[in-house]
Amino acid sequence: MKKRILTGLQPSGTLHIGNYFGSLKPLIDLMGQEDNEVLLMVADYHALTSLRDTAELKTNIYNIVRDYLAAGVDPKKVILFRQSDNQDHMELGWILNCLVTVPFLMQAHSYKDKVAKGLEPNAGLFTYPMLMAADITLYNTDIVPVGEDQRQHLEYTREAVTKFNNAYGKILKEPKELIVAGVGVVPGTDGQKMSKSYKNTIPFFGTHEETQKAVMSIVTDSSGDRPVNVYNIHNVIYRALGKSQDELDALYHEHAGKYKVLKDILVDDIEIVIGGMREKRAQITDDEIRHILKDGAARAKAISNTMMQKIRAAVGITL
Ligand code: AMP
Ligand code: TRP
Repeated sequence: MKKRILTGLQPSGTLHIGNYFGSLKPLIDLMGQEDNEVLLMVADYHALTSLRDTAELKTNIYNIVRDYLAAGVDPKKVILFRQSDNQDHMELGWILNCLVTVPFLMQAHSYKDKVAKGLEPNAGLFTYPMLMAADITLYNTDIVPVGEDQRQHLEYTREAVTKFNNAYGKILKEPKELIVAGVGVVPGTDGQKMSKSYKNTIPFFGTHEETQKAVMSIVTDSSGDRPVNVYNIHNVIYRALGKSQDELDALYHEHAGKYKVLKDILVDDIEIVIGGMREKRAQITDDEIRHILKDGAARAKAISNTMMQKIRAAVGITL
């Protein structure tokens, strides 16, 4: 049996290094393996929970697909699709919403964090975990590569599966999260988790100047020879270059106390990781993107429609 892998990213901003290493790269690494079937979704309905700008959302959707492709997602090997192209997500999301309680959803860290940061507590944001559970279970997904911040959403998904299966029979599959050690929480320029809402990101496809500006803004303190925040980000980049932590330690030892030199080296190393991808990215046309998404939508629907028929029959909404 093939293992099904699925992840999604919201087109709500610019792809940053944390998104790439936390969820996209683990998915790309699994893409090449023959016994895997991989799906990658543009979670555009999810983005509506925080974004209310027509032009921006539309641009973000094109941009995120461009990012995926440039980062190495092969649309022949991956079903690359947009959530809003497949209404089964909405339908199953509703069914799952009817199985969980308001107090249960109120415990979600992600919801509480977002509201604490000043995001409007709209009903979409509140019920978001059940739309995500639908995204995953519609495709009988086994593995979901995500960052640490999504761990609880996977627990919520499993809880929804249990509730559904107890009510209607064993139809939905319990997925597992894949959180890769060392990149589950990529730190940002201030040492906290890298996140667009903390304004501490290093953009993945920034221009050389943007990368430089972000790296120079990494907060350093003078308590030791090693700038910890620079080192921790460098550590993630070093892995991507296939270099060891010992090599990184040697580098930081050699340049002990020279923060500017270490930051310059980090900028160069980021350039090595993304330079080629950036060139590829510039060549991807909007037409190509529309074509890939259309094809992906048809392939995604072929899987979910069968599942949805079983779900409807189990629930009793067929005649
Ligand atoms: P978001 O941009 O919040 O939609 O996140 C998209 C994906 O990137 C999710 O799987 C997140 O868990 C992951 N992610 C976001 N920020 C980080 C981070 N700082 N470190 C690791 N993974 C992250
Ligand atoms: N909730 C995820 C995030 O904010 C995005 C997402 C939506 C997702 N649906 C998904 C991730 C399904 C994995 C699987 O990052």
